Amino acid sequence: MKVLILGTSGQVGTELMRAAWPQGTELVGLARPDVDMARPETVEAAVAAHAPGLVVNATAYTAVDKAESDRETAFAVNRDGPARLAASCAACGIPLIHISTDYVFDGTKAAPYAEDDPVAPLGVYGASKEAGEAAVRAALPQHVILRTSWVYAAHGANFVKTMLRFGREREEMRVVADQHGAPTADAAIAAAIVTIEERIAAGSGGSVPGSVPWGTYHFTGAGETTWHGFAERIFQRLEAATGRRPRLQAIATADYPTPARRPANSRLDCARIRSAFGIEAPRWEDSLDRVLDELLSPTAS
Ligand SMILES: NC(=O)c1ccc[n+]([C@@H]2O[C@H](COP(=O)([O-])OP(=O)(O)OC[C@H]3O[C@@H](n4cnc5c(N)ncnc54)[C@H](OP(=O)(O)O)[C@@H]3O)[C@@H](O)[C@H]2O)c1
Repeated sequence: MKVLILGTSGQVGTELMRAAWPQGTELVGLARPDVDMARPETVEAAVAAHAPGLVVNATAYTAVDKAESDRETAFAVNRDGPARLAASCAACGIPLIHISTDYVFDGTKAAPYAEDDPVAPLGVYGASKEAGEAAVRAALPQHVILRTSWVYAAHGANFVKTMLRFGREREEMRVVADQHGAPTADAAIAAAIVTIEERIAAGSGGSVPGSVPWGTYHFTGAGETTWHGFAERIFQRLEAATGRRPRLQAIATADYPTPARRPANSRLDCARIRSAFGIEAPRWEDSLDRVLDELLSPTAS
């Protein structure tokens, strides 16, 4: 199977390029300027030129706060690019794995969100991602939309790296304790995508025709915490490695105003992907420990 990965400079895209794909998989990774989601003609050209058996879209405009004042770009990248990508895939009979977000929900539900719960994004980023999901569904039945949350990696810009940097520099940190969710490591997302690819490859090989359960799925680290709980675990490890940590103060969302509103409940119910694909998410703490092993190792830069 030839797999075309878009967004290889991002957290998930980077990990997809180094994931353990089945033997014989031909990986083609593209980043800007080869594919610019805001210039849909480049998307169409890439799909036609590479003629893959599967496309994975790991691109997104992910600057949640900046999106509030840059609506046009957020929608171009998160809605119009995926719309053209899905249409190009449909024209060539190519399935698509498209990544989306917990921010399509408003966070008012008292329990973890199921895939079919009503969406109601609170900000421009969530709205643009929700519009991208809708465009993919409308254009291409052979899709897997994977909603995830609180993504981090040993590379790229993310909460873990920010906490480690501030944790080394500051005496005190104030972190929001009333937003609930699950951190998800890039490696866990990449492993889930590889498992889905294996199922698609088996289905398209003709042995089990029509066996791929296309649709929308939730996938996050198992368990749950808050941003404060996430930071606490990072600082515990920082202290064990360096002997220093900042004092950590729990604050409310209202005490930390941001341009974009964020859901108080980001928890996603991951039962569907478990029963459809047999994908079991690792505990968020275990994945975090592995990334921190890398970031806190004496040889880390
Ligand atoms: N980060 C999170 O906490 C989070 C949470 C939930 C869901 N997600 C979803 O997970 C997926 C992967 O996110 P991530 O964390 O890996 O994001 P990321 O690290 O911010 O990477 C985003 C990628 O998209 C690319 N991109 C942005 N604009 C583009 C454009 N106009 N054309 C082509 N590529 C463009 C970036 O390329 P450049 O390097 O050139 O900018 C980068 O490769 C996204 O669908 C995101 O919505 C993320």
